[in-house]
Amino acid sequence: MATIHKPFRPKPKPRFPIFIFVICVAAIALLYLISSVISTNGFSFPSSIVTIKDLMRPGKLKRKVHTIHEKYLYWGDRIDCPGKHCESCEGLGHQESSLRCALEEAMFLNRTFVMPFAMCINPIHNKKGILHHSDNATSEERWAASSCAMESLYDIDLISENVPVILDNSEMWHHVLTTSMKLGARGVAHVEEVSRFNLKHDSYYSNLLLINRTASPLSWFMECKDRNNRSAIMLPYSFLPSMAAEKLRNAAEKIKALLGDYDAIHVRRGDKIKTRKDRFGVARSLHPHLDRDTRPEFILHRIEKWVPAGQTIFIASNEKTPDFFSPLSVRYKLAYAANYSKILDPLIENNYQLFMIERLILMGAKTFIRTFKEDDTDLSLTDDPKKNTKIWQKPVYTMGEDRR
Ligand SMILES: *[C@@H]1O[C@H](CO)[C@@H](O)[C@H](O)[C@H]1NC(C)=O
Ligand SMILES: *[C@@H]1O[C@H](CO)[C@@H](O)[C@H](O)[C@H]1NC(C)=O
Ligand SMILES: *[C@@H]1O[C@H](CO)[C@@H](O)[C@H](O)[C@H]1NC(C)=O
Ligand SMILES: *[C@@H]1O[C@H](CO)[C@@H](O)[C@H](O)[C@H]1NC(C)=O
Ligand SMILES: *[C@@H]1O[C@H](CO)[C@@H](O)[C@H](O)[C@H]1NC(C)=O
Repeated sequence: MATIHKPFRPKPKPRFPIFIFVICVAAIALLYLISSVISTNGFSFPSSIVTIKDLMRPGKLKRKVHTIHEKYLYWGDRIDCPGKHCESCEGLGHQESSLRCALEEAMFLNRTFVMPFAMCINPIHNKKGILHHSDNATSEERWAASSCAMESLYDIDLISENVPVILDNSEMWHHVLTTSMKLGARGVAHVEEVSRFNLKHDSYYSNLLLINRTASPLSWFMECKDRNNRSAIMLPYSFLPSMAAEKLRNAAEKIKALLGDYDAIHVRRGDKIKTRKDRFGVARSLHPHLDRDTRPEFILHRIEKWVPAGQTIFIASNEKTPDFFSPLSVRYKLAYAANYSKILDPLIENNYQLFMIERLILMGAKTFIRTFKEDDTDLSLTDDPKKNTKIWQKPVYTMGEDRR
């Protein structure tokens, strides 16, 4: 650097101070230009240059430009890990709750969130993914085999318009890590059990380039337990669903256009109607009315007052029995994702992508009926609470039409 600088530094001549000043400014400007050109050719130059590099990457012009002047928040490279969900993982909704919690913290701290570049897919939700079951595969390999790229699910640029994010396999992240090492104590802190309030207001933390946080070992979203305090919620539940990757949003739009004027029901059976036997051999359930309330004859009765006869109903469900809902066709025109396999099959690589498209279709319905009531204004198929009450009760099937 010094050798380049020399020719531009004239000998001090007190008679022309302004002239010297102008020369110096020009020299500094030229240096910046030269160093930025060098940097795009592979040299690294401390601070400020990455933006130019990013801008010059072809095809990435619409991407939000991050600069190293931003500060970063990292919660680790896997959602809900460390903790009990490191190897297996929970369903999409559960992981989204965790991701949303981390994003909210980034908003609170005014930091760019460093997002894991992949999301783990629970094997029971991945009938389409290719899972190589090998006994001597390491847990690392098994995880990789059952995960999908975050960008196959979400539009990272769209998320960044609301909360700036980078992925932890990006060049920018690499740059943040090397810079944080150079900065030493001002660069990074690995923090555990520090409240977000302290991370924001304690100047030791607030001045750091990178906060590497270890979230609750139970689930990341445990850090957002105060969601009961409505005014503390910064992102609604619908935020991540609506941030679906562009090709998923496009597919949903096409299907919505084909459905025309439609209502929708989301029928959760599968996992939720699980029963277990008590010590007397009697089946018990956490949602005692759910099996009954999600059967077609009960659904017909329940939704009569909300959905007019003849209406098209889009049904999203994890019920496996074929034609399970066909009794509803006495009054309604039924549609499922399977009706649109021409659009979906070439697109879908895993079930999380399918869930995301189905959710967008559900969200676009004129009248949407959930399985459980989540909000006071929600329409729902059952009055059982969604929350795990931990009370195992005898399932109820009666209401004149007892099936067992
Ligand atoms: C948030 O951070 C950006 C830079 O990353 C800064 O320009 C802005 O002033 C900050 N806002 C607040 C409210 O601190
Ligand atoms: C372990 O993996 C190797 C190759 O990946 C394979 O050849 C071998 O048969 C496997 N061993 C067992 C016990 O599965
Ligand atoms: C973050 O902290 C954890 C726990 O201290 C550590 O294992 C991990 O390597 C750190 N990650 C980074 C990127 O510094
Ligand atoms: C609820 O959240 C708001 C905003 O973060 C905060 O100002 C308020 O003190 C919280 N209230 C309670 C009872 O925690
Ligand atoms: C969807 O497919 C089912 C048969 O699986 C059929 O009965 C129904 O009419 C189709 N719905 C639409 C909207 O095409």
